[in-house]
Amino acid sequence: MSAQAGAPGQGGTGAATGGFAGGGGLLGGMVAQGPAETFNVVRGDRLEGRVALVTGGSNGIGAGVARRLAERGAGIVLADIDDDAGKALADELDATFVHCDVSRLEDNEAAVATAVERYGRLDLAFLNAGIASGCGLGEDFDLRRYRLAMGVNLDGVVFGVHAAIPALLATGGGTIVATASMAGIVGIPSDPIYAANKHAVVGLVRSLGEDLQARGIRVQGLCPSFADTAILGEGKELLEQIGFPILDVRTVVDAFFRLLDSDGTGECWFVIPGREIEPFAFRRAPGPRG
Ligand SMILES: NC(=O)c1ccc[n+]([C@@H]2O[C@H](COP(=O)([O-])OP(=O)(O)OC[C@H]3O[C@@H](n4cnc5c(N)ncnc54)[C@H](O)[C@@H]3O)[C@@H](O)[C@H]2O)c1
Repeated sequence: MSAQAGAPGQGGTGAATGGFAGGGGLLGGMVAQGPAETFNVVRGDRLEGRVALVTGGSNGIGAGVARRLAERGAGIVLADIDDDAGKALADELDATFVHCDVSRLEDNEAAVATAVERYGRLDLAFLNAGIASGCGLGEDFDLRRYRLAMGVNLDGVVFGVHAAIPALLATGGGTIVATASMAGIVGIPSDPIYAANKHAVVGLVRSLGEDLQARGIRVQGLCPSFADTAILGEGKELLEQIGFPILDVRTVVDAFFRLLDSDGTGECWFVIPGREIEPFAFRRAPGPRG
C-alpha cells in the first residue's frame, strides 16, 4: 500500500493553529483559534490509502471495525494486549499488530509511531480498548481492579488522544473515535466504576470536540448498549434470561461507519437495538445567564 495515497491534507504543523496552549486553570487551554483551513476528511468511502489505529483491535468491536476498514483499503495497526488473537487477525487482514497496553502512555505512543513508520501517516484513531471492572464499591471493592479499569477505560483514551494528536496534525487532520458506552450516559448499578470511567470518556469527547475540530481533528464518541462480545462474560446469560436484546457486533460496526460519515464533532452516538442510531441530545445545562 502506498503510504501517501489519497492524502488530501495540508500536512505539517501548518494546520495546527489554536487551542491547547497549556497554562493553568480550567481555561488554560483556550486561546484564539487560527483561520479555518482545508483539512484531511476521513470518510467510510474514502479509506483507500488511509491509516487507522485500532486499540482493543484483537477481538469484538475493534476486530469488527478493523475488518471493515481493511475491506475498504485502509492500512491498520491493531493495538492490544491479546497478542495471539491480534497477530492472527493482522495476518488475515494484512495489517500490523503491536502489543499495546493502553493504560501505559508509552505503549500508546509506540503504537502511533508504528503506524507512522509502517504506513507513513495516521488518519484515524479508534480508541476502543475496554474492560469491565469486576468489582463494586462495597465489600467487593478491589483496588487493583479499580485502578486497572480506570487505567484501560479512561487513561487508555486520554493517552490515545495525546499520542495521536501530533500524528493526525502531521496528516493535516483526521478523526478520533472513542468507544464509550451507554454506561457513559446512564448509571449502571452492576458496575458503577465502569459507568464512571465511561461517563469520563463522554466528558472527554464533549470537551475536546470543538477545540480539536479547529485543528482539523474530529472527535466522536460511540456509545453502544450491550453487544455480543466477550466483555459481557456471564452477564450475557442473564441478559438472555430477562429477554434484554443484545446488539450484534455488525450493528455496532455499522454505527461506527455512520459516525465516521457524520459531519459532527464532540457528539456521543448511542447504539441501541431497534432504534436509529443518533447523537445523544444532552439536556441544555443551566448557566448563570439562564
Ligand atoms: N460489548 C458491549 O456490551 C459493550 C457495550 C458498550 C461499550 N463497549 C465497549 O466497547 C469496547 C470494546 O469492547 P468489546 O465489547 O469489543 O469487548 P472485547 O472484550 O471483545 O474486546 C476488548 C478488547 O480490548 C482488549 N484490551 C483489554 N485490556 C487492554 C489493554 N490494557 N490494552 C489494550 N487492549 C486491551 C482486549 O484484549 C480485547 O481485545 C470497550 O471499550 C467496551 O467497554 C462494549
